[in-house]
Amino acid sequence: MVQESLDALRDEFDTHSTYFYDALFRHAPHLRKLFRDDLTGQGMKFMTTLNVIVQKLDQEDDIAEQFTGLGRTHASLGVRSADFAPMEEALVDTIRNAMGDEFSSELEHAWRKAYAIVSSNMIRRGNVPT
Ligand code: HEM
Repeated sequence: MVQESLDALRDEFDTHSTYFYDALFRHAPHLRKLFRDDLTGQGMKFMTTLNVIVQKLDQEDDIAEQFTGLGRTHASLGVRSADFAPMEEALVDTIRNAMGDEFSSELEHAWRKAYAIVSSNMIRRGNVPT
């Protein structure tokens, strides 16, 4: 389900990326300062990486290194473990908006579950501080 909805999102990546960052900074305005002024390209990286990880969620050993690297990068950018919650809400908002009538509570649940696996691995393996 998560993979299918990512396919739908891919159609209008730029629009959804803009929506995503607007949602993120609405949920957590203080996070804006962590990002560079021009967000072009960044949405793409976030989604592309998420896509790669989600495709391999059932092969956790294969992506352990990627989790560690991403976690460390985020820790050094000044990201805290608490910052993952507003990002989750922004992601769910974006998917709800992108999917329209096809959005369901089942899909939301599936996304939250996938995000929980990705974020907990990044936080734990990359030593992201609280
Ligand atoms: C599932 C969770 C997340 C994934 C998959 C993810 C993915 C990524 C990727 C792939 C990059 C680019 C790294 C590079 O250029 O090498 C990035 C950059 C970044 N991420 Fe994340 N991220 C996640 C969560 C977060 C959270 C919770 C924050 C908190 C604010 C955050 C803040 C940032 C910042 C500030 C950058 C650098 C942006 C810039 O260069 O302007 N990320 N992220």
